[in-house]
Amino acid sequence: MTHVAGKHFLQIPGPSNVPDRILRAIDRPTIDHRGPEFAALARDALEKLKTIFQTRGAVVMYPASGTGAWEAALVNTLSPGDKVLMFETGQFATLWREMAGRLGLEIDLVPGNWRTGVDPAVVEAKLAEDKARAIKAVAMVHNETSTGVVSAVAQVRKAIDKVGHPALLMVDTISSLASIDYRHDEWGVDVTVAGSQKGLMLPPGLSFNAISDKALATSKTSKLPKSYWAWEPMLTSNKTGFFPYTPSTNLLYGLSEAADMLLEEGLPQVFARHDRHAEATRRAVRAWGLEILAVNPREYSSTLTAVVMPEGHDADHLRETILERFNMSLGQGLGKVKGKVFRIGHLGDFNDLMLAGTLAGVEMGLAIDKVPFKKGGVSAALDYLAGNH
Ligand SMILES: Cc1ncc(COP(=O)(O)O)c(C=O)c1O
Repeated sequence: MTHVAGKHFLQIPGPSNVPDRILRAIDRPTIDHRGPEFAALARDALEKLKTIFQTRGAVVMYPASGTGAWEAALVNTLSPGDKVLMFETGQFATLWREMAGRLGLEIDLVPGNWRTGVDPAVVEAKLAEDKARAIKAVAMVHNETSTGVVSAVAQVRKAIDKVGHPALLMVDTISSLASIDYRHDEWGVDVTVAGSQKGLMLPPGLSFNAISDKALATSKTSKLPKSYWAWEPMLTSNKTGFFPYTPSTNLLYGLSEAADMLLEEGLPQVFARHDRHAEATRRAVRAWGLEILAVNPREYSSTLTAVVMPEGHDADHLRETILERFNMSLGQGLGKVKGKVFRIGHLGDFNDLMLAGTLAGVEMGLAIDKVPFKKGGVSAALDYLAGNH
C-alpha cells in the first residue's frame, strides 16, 4: 500500500475526530476497576456528565454502543404489549422502532418523509385520541443523523402536557448531545439516550441513559426482561463509584477529559460553534446550487448537513472519489436515501479551517465527478466565517 501523507479528514456525522487531549487521556495504564482510584474517576465522570445532560437526576453509562442505550431505555420502563408512539423521521428512528417491535412492544408509528421532524401537533392529536391511556411512551430522535433534521423536544413535551397524558418522553440525543442545545430536566424528558462517539469526541464504546424520577419510579414495575441493561444494579453500584460488571476503564479517562474540555469552552459556546459551522456549510451548499435534505430552516441540524445529489448522479460515487483523491470520509446516504444524499459531518472537535478543508474537498470532488454545480461554495462559507465570529 502506498503511504498517504497528512491527516485523514473524518467528516462523517460520527464517530467524530478524537482530539489529541482525549487520546492522551485514554493512553494510560488500565487500573483496577474495583479499587479506590477507579471509584474516584467514575464518580467524577458521572457528576460531570450531569452538567452535559443538563440534569440533576441519575445518569448511567454502559460499555456499549448507542444501540445498547436504546434498548436500556425501553426495557427498563416498559412491559410486553405496551404501546409506544414513534415517528418515522429517518433511518435511526426506523431502527429504534424495529428494536421496540422485536422487544414485544406495540408501535403506533407516525409515517414521515425523511425531510421533516416530529410535528408536536400530531403528538397532541394522537395523545388526545388515546382516552384509554394505552400509549406508555413517546419516543423520538432529537437529531436524525440520517437526514440532518432536528425535532423540537420542548414542544413535544408541551404537547404531552397540554392533553395531560401520562406517557413517558424518551429522546435519542446520540448525534446532538454536547453539540446542539439539549436540556433533559428543563424540557421534561424522562429518558435521554446518548453515545460517546459524536459530540463527546470519544471513540465509540460508551452509551448513556439520563433518567427522570418518573422513569425511575416506572422502572420498578416494568416487566420487559432485562439483565445487562437493568438500571437498578447499575445505580446501586454507581453510588460507590463502581459497576455491576467491568466498565470501559480507559474510555472513562477520556470521558472525564472530554467533559473538562466541553466545560472549559462552555456549553453555550460549544452550541454556538456548531450552529456557526452548520450555517457556513449550508451557505456553501446553496452557492453550489445543491439542495439541503432538511426542508424547514428551524429544523436544520447543527451537527451535519445532508446534501441531495442532482438526479442521475450517485452520492456514493462522489464519496468514493473524495476519499480516494483527498483522503476524506463523508457520510453515506442510509436506508431510503442511499445513493441520493451525502452527509457532511461538522461536529465535535472541529474548527473553521477544518470546515474550510472539508468544503474544499467536496467542491473539488463535485468538479472531478462532473456533478452539475456552481463554483463558489467554499468562498461563500469563508465569507460567512470571516464575517461572523
Ligand atoms: C441518532 C442515532 N441513534 C442511534 C444510533 C445508533 O448508535 P450506535 O451505532 O452507536 O449503536 C446512531 C448512530 O449513528 C445515531 O446517529
